[in-house]
Amino acid sequence: MRESVFTAKRIFLSGASSGIGLAIAKLLVAQGHEVWGTSRNPEKIPALLRLHPLRLDLADPCSVDEAFNAALAEADHFDVLINNAGSGHFGPAENLSAEAIANQFQVLVFGHLQLMKLAMPAMRSHGHGLIINVTSLASRLPVPFMAAYNAAKAAMAAFTMSIQLELPDSRVRIVDLEPGDICTEFNNAVNKSAQQDPRYEASVAKTWTMVERNMAAAPKPESVARRVCALIEQTNPPPRVTVGDAFQSKIAPLIFRFLPQRIRIWGLKKYYGI
Ligand SMILES: NC(=O)c1ccc[n+]([C@@H]2O[C@H](COP(=O)([O-])OP(=O)(O)OC[C@H]3O[C@@H](n4cnc5c(N)ncnc54)[C@H](OP(=O)(O)O)[C@@H]3O)[C@@H](O)[C@H]2O)c1
Repeated sequence: MRESVFTAKRIFLSGASSGIGLAIAKLLVAQGHEVWGTSRNPEKIPALLRLHPLRLDLADPCSVDEAFNAALAEADHFDVLINNAGSGHFGPAENLSAEAIANQFQVLVFGHLQLMKLAMPAMRSHGHGLIINVTSLASRLPVPFMAAYNAAKAAMAAFTMSIQLELPDSRVRIVDLEPGDICTEFNNAVNKSAQQDPRYEASVAKTWTMVERNMAAAPKPESVARRVCALIEQTNPPPRVTVGDAFQSKIAPLIFRFLPQRIRIWGLKKYYGI
């Protein structure tokens, strides 16, 4: 009888201090993998065997270079990069400042792309690698008053698919992991600095109530962690994966695919009660 041989992987994981990233980090190290996990305040990352805390701020391109290169020098190579860190904003799109929009794209797109560009050549010269980009179902089913977040996640999903089209060989594989609502600290970190506006007040309040209700009832981040752990063991992982409750992650995207845009917008407004 053939026994499967466990090989510990070296993994760079952004956003390991909370929520989905923390759950992934805990499960990976429990399984024997070595994880270089990041936070803007690395002291927030729990002291665990095989979990190496690192400072990384996606808003600062120098910090991204420094964190990845320091971790690579320590690790020697990375088998897996998990682009997970991120935060959102909440407020009317027309009142979002250019700075707030740019910040969402820096944190959710440019920072992650910078990490991919650092990781890919290193993975290729090592022989193989897997990149998991945590985007969101909001890239396909946008949440009202999160326009820049939805757009940045959609940009990251499109960039991921574009690279999947272009990759000349299968030594580096890339997965777009799209969670639906997952019960984490995400809403506590949401930036609500967009200008208050009486025209939107009622809809903003109704949507936030729904967003909070969905978050409270959502699956735990450990469900995403289990999916990530399964992905890193697959020799040919699927290019796109959805995780979350069955309605959000399976039924709604399937129905949405066949609906005309007018009906999609009507349905989403109904869902959020606006
Ligand atoms: N929860 C959901 O319902 C949901 C759904 C779809 C997609 N997602 C995505 O899943 C990912 C993880 O979110 P979560 O729900 O686990 O939220 P969370 O509990 O708030 O965790 C966010 C993580 O990202 C890090 N982070 C935030 N801003 C950062 C920045 N500028 N630079 C570096 N690190 C930063 C945080 O670290 P520090 O604050 O310690 O730096 C933290 O570790 C995000 O990309 C999010 O968009 C979440």
